Amino acid sequence: MIARELLPQLGLASDVTGLFEQPKSLPPKLFYDAEGSALFERITQLPEYYPTRTEAAILRNNANEIAAAVQPLQSLIELGAGTSSKTRVLIAAFLRAQSKLKFFPVDISAAPLHLVRDAICREFPGLVHTPIVTDFSDELILPSNIPSPRLVLYLGSSIGNFEPMQAVAFLLRVRRALHPGDGLLLGADMRKHPRVLLPAYDDAHGVTAAFNKNILAHINQELGGHFDLSKFKHLARWKSNESRIEMYLESTVRQTVLIESLDASVEFEAGELIHTENSYKYSDGMVRSMLRHAGFAVEKVWRDKRGWFSDYLARVPR
Ligand code: AVJ
Repeated sequence: MIARELLPQLGLASDVTGLFEQPKSLPPKLFYDAEGSALFERITQLPEYYPTRTEAAILRNNANEIAAAVQPLQSLIELGAGTSSKTRVLIAAFLRAQSKLKFFPVDISAAPLHLVRDAICREFPGLVHTPIVTDFSDELILPSNIPSPRLVLYLGSSIGNFEPMQAVAFLLRVRRALHPGDGLLLGADMRKHPRVLLPAYDDAHGVTAAFNKNILAHINQELGGHFDLSKFKHLARWKSNESRIEMYLESTVRQTVLIESLDASVEFEAGELIHTENSYKYSDGMVRSMLRHAGFAVEKVWRDKRGWFSDYLARVPR
């Protein structure tokens, strides 16, 4: 029998196997401990990080239309909810047209969900608020008591962390967890010039660098790692052929790092990289094709004037 409190750590141990592979990698979901979620929140407010404010404007400008397209709605499920800051205008729009709504924010990190819980309940008395802490990246298990019609939100272009095939597989799992007639609102960051993209992932104040390095602090905390964050450097690259931003941590020296819980050490050459994130940037055709391959019917798209970001409303066919 495994003690319950050991299970999350065991999960984390299986998430860091990429440190022992060549080239080295870590999954971006490991960014999001309490500190990482707070750092991401700061990223969303940086002048260089355009996606959050661009999508927030799309949702603000079209909230009534989006609500009308899916109403009446019983349940709103937000995957990777964080603090749900962009979602509030949508909830407000729903609650102008109907008196009740069930809201299920889902996140791998409990901290941001708990941080905003009271504020959301105070702002929306008609809302039944049920936060869910779970890692939905490999498997999506929704509680069976979420009534349809349902709308799943997957905002912020978090889909861009998956490689295209994995993104389709993920969307397929979302579609299978839903019923015919249920909807998905998917946020997608569009391709644009690297002079806009690169600063968004390498800001002047080093917040993204701190966010990236925090993945090592998370491993130190949870697995007894001995990473010295000052011996790693944040790198962001634009890969045009893959249409993605790549983030890395570069070991600035040759070093050996012990991870106590694994009873193992990781060896780094000077200049060796850990690949920590892909963030895909899409064409309209790519997003539509992924949704179609996953069995969704694309119903409507909302975008900003510059075409930097898009929100797709897709439906599970009846
Ligand atoms: C939360 C995955 C959408 O890819 O832009 C922000 C994460 N990484 N800055 C993104 C992130 C570096 C973000 N997503």
